[in-house]
Parts: sequence; structure tokens; C-alpha cells
Amino acid sequence: MKICIIGTGYIGLTEGLCFADLGHNVNCYDIAKDKIEKLQKGIPTLYEDGLEEMLKRNLERKSINFTTNLKEALKSSEVVFICVNTPPNPKDGSADLTALIQATKDIASNMENKFVLVVRSTVPVGTNKIVKNLAQKTNSNLQFTMASNPEFSKQGTAIKDFLNPDRIIVGVSDENTKSAMEQVYKPLTDKGSPILFTSVETAELIKYASNAFLAIKITFINEIADICEKTGANIDEISKAMGLDKRINPYFLQAGPGIGGSCFPKDSIALYNIGKKLGLDMELILASSESNKKRKKRMAKKIIEASNTKLKNKKIALLGLAFKANTDDTRFSPALDIIKQLHKNKIYVNAYDPKGIEKCKSMLDKKYLKTTNFFDNVYDAIKGSEILVIDTEWEEFKKLDYKKVYELLNQKVIVDLRNILDKNEIEKIGFKYICIGK
Ligand code: UDX
Repeated sequence: MKICIIGTGYIGLTEGLCFADLGHNVNCYDIAKDKIEKLQKGIPTLYEDGLEEMLKRNLERKSINFTTNLKEALKSSEVVFICVNTPPNPKDGSADLTALIQATKDIASNMENKFVLVVRSTVPVGTNKIVKNLAQKTNSNLQFTMASNPEFSKQGTAIKDFLNPDRIIVGVSDENTKSAMEQVYKPLTDKGSPILFTSVETAELIKYASNAFLAIKITFINEIADICEKTGANIDEISKAMGLDKRINPYFLQAGPGIGGSCFPKDSIALYNIGKKLGLDMELILASSESNKKRKKRMAKKIIEASNTKLKNKKIALLGLAFKANTDDTRFSPALDIIKQLHKNKIYVNAYDPKGIEKCKSMLDKKYLKTTNFFDNVYDAIKGSEILVIDTEWEEFKKLDYKKVYELLNQKVIVDLRNILDKNEIEKIGFKYICIGK
């Protein structure tokens, strides 16, 4: 099919490439000229496993095209996916629909043929209706139907998640749109991926419900980890045991420094706002969101308390800036809270991340950059630091030469906020080892 993708951010880019790999003909549009120019040359604009090869492959085959010319992008497209971001509104955390509204107006003004307009961005219930009315108002001759098709791809495994989905959710209100969306996903459903058609409103809410539920699950295990730390119980064994109960399942039960990323924190608070506007008290969601925010801030205290001496005016090594492994994304990353809280306590940070340094730098105010030094080499970051903190579960950090780390570090203290190291082995080297919930 001829598919147009509006917005080449995380979802737009990875999924545009996936659709091209599945045999569709894809046009990707973005207003950001610099991004499009890079993509046209085969230069990835974000880090995702397998993305670079996919980009090169599809550019060579001419199955994907990147452009800043909307008319050209839309021309003869049968399905148009809006993949622009819906960031949290700074005032109340509700989803900011500015980019989505603009994209709708632009599509409606430039589209010349009949098409299905798909909202892929995460949006509050009722947004598809708003988009539909706006498109009609902008261009009364526009021939289109709507579908809500939320995505569930995790950063770092976005390509794999898209190509092997647990489920594909499509909200439609007529049979023709349903058939068109069946065609879009046929290469996946033929291989057994389940597809579920619902009403548009239901599809919109499935996305928020899923993300908020998973955020609550992680927040819950993090709070149990706090009890473990005060009682001598072991969170890893508890997660394992709970996960063996099929009703609970083992996924998303890993305690850590708190939830980051562009989705869970934002979607939880957006869902709370959806409820509030409907006159409903979404107490559980609000509590989970607040608990998570406090947790990320509290990690600095844990680091300070782990030190054998006062850390004021000294430096610590912080390994991991990305909100999780295998991504360069640092949005809502616990590392940002750690850097800010340590700054308040006049503690310097030697930071290292295999992919996330540039994005981290761009998210920190000047004052924090003054107390943070970034290193391209992990051992350079550790050398002369007081203690070592692991904030992201990168494979690289599991495989460091910890005997060498022992020599380079002033105090022999490791704070492992992801529980990725073997306590016995680390203690055998001579380190004091502090982790989560054990
Ligand atoms: C999430 C959703 O999983 C995905 O379906 C949605 O489309 C986008 O948002 P993502 O933000 O990429 O994906 O990351 P995810 O792997 O879900 O992790 C979110 C946060 O929770 C990370 O900070 C991660 O470190 C943390 N986490 C996750 C835990 O602390 N413990 C876990 O067991 C799992």
C-alpha cells in the first residue's frame, strides 16, 4: 500500500521503516529540514538497534522517501499515519495536542485523494473526533475516514516490538476503514500477530490504560523494594516468585531507580487529567506518578548515604544517562534527577553513557553542566571519582573490569541502582556494594 507518515520522531521513523520492510511504499514527512536531510542521506537521527541498516536498505530499494514537501508526501497515499509527539503540557501534564492539530490542518489542506487518516500519536479519549471535525472544517471536500491505532513499541526494541506485536489495536467506525487497516497489517497478521478492532474511543483508552497499568506495576515493585531494604528481604527473589504466578507474570517487575522515558511518566499524568476532566478521582494513578517522581529524587540521597566520607565538593562517577539501556533517550531519566539533586548538595558528577551523552547535555541547564563532566571513556569517568553509581542497565556495565575499577576509584563503593552486578563477586574484590531492595 502507499503509506504516508507524518513526523519522523521515534515512532514515525522506526515504524515508517518497518512498513517499508513489510513491502509497503512509504513517504515520511517532517517539518524539520535538518532531520529530513540526514535521513535522505541514510544518517539515523536517533539510536535504535537495527535502524541504520534498515534505513540504508530501504533507501537503496527506494521503498522509503523522506521529504519536507507535504503535498509530495501525501500524493496518492491510501493511509496517512499521524506520528507527531503529544508532550506533557507544562501547566498540568495533560497531553499537548498542538503538533497534532497543526498536522491535521496541514494534511487536510494538502491532500487531494481519498484516504484513511490514522492517529498513531498517544491522545486522550475523544481526540480522534476532534481531529475528524477539524479536518472536515479545514477542507470540506476532503474525502477521508478515521482510525485510532495506538502503538506499544518500547524504545531500544522498537523494531522488534513492531514486527512481533503482542497485539495490534485499531479503532474504527466503518467496514471500509477496517479493510484498509487489515491490508496495512496483513504481513504481520499472516504470521500470527493478533489484531483487535474496537471503537475509536476504546482504542484511544487502551493505550493509556496499558501504560498507566505498567507504570503502577513498576512503582509497586519499587515500593516493595523499599520494604526489603528495611527488613533484609530480597527484591529479586520476590519479583521472581511473584512472576511465577501466571496472573502476575514476570515482566515489568524489575525494581530500579524509578520510571523514565517519554511515555510512562507522561501518560500516567495525562490519564489522571482525562479522569479529572470527567469529574473522576484517579487516585491510584496520581499516587503512582507522585511515588515515582519522589523515588527518582530520592536516589541522590541513597548515593550520598552510601559514601564513607562527605561528598561535598567531591565527584562521583555516574554510569548511565539514558532512561534505560539500548536507547540514547534521556527524557525523564532518573539520571537527570540524580545530577540535579547532587548539584544541590555541591557534588560533582563524572558522567558516562554509551549513547546518551548528547541528549543528556541538551536537557540540562547551564548550572548543572558546570558540575557535570562528560566522558567518552568509561574508565576515564571512574578515575579519581569517590564512588561509582550505575543508573542504566547497559550490557557494557556488566562486563567492566571491576578489578581495574577498584584501582581507579577513591572509595571502594559501588551503588548499583539496577541490580545488574553479582553482589558476591563485587564484594570479593573488596567493594562495599549497595543495590536496590537487597
Ligand atoms: C513504554 C511502553 O512500554 C511502550 O509500550 C509504549 O509504547 C512507550 O512507552 P518505553 O518508554 O520505551 O516504552 O520503555 P519501557 O521499557 O516500557 O520502560 C519504561 C521505564 O520503566 C524505564 O525507565 C525502565 O527502566 C523502567 N522499568 C521498566 C523498570 O524500572 N522496571 C521494569 O521492570 C521495566
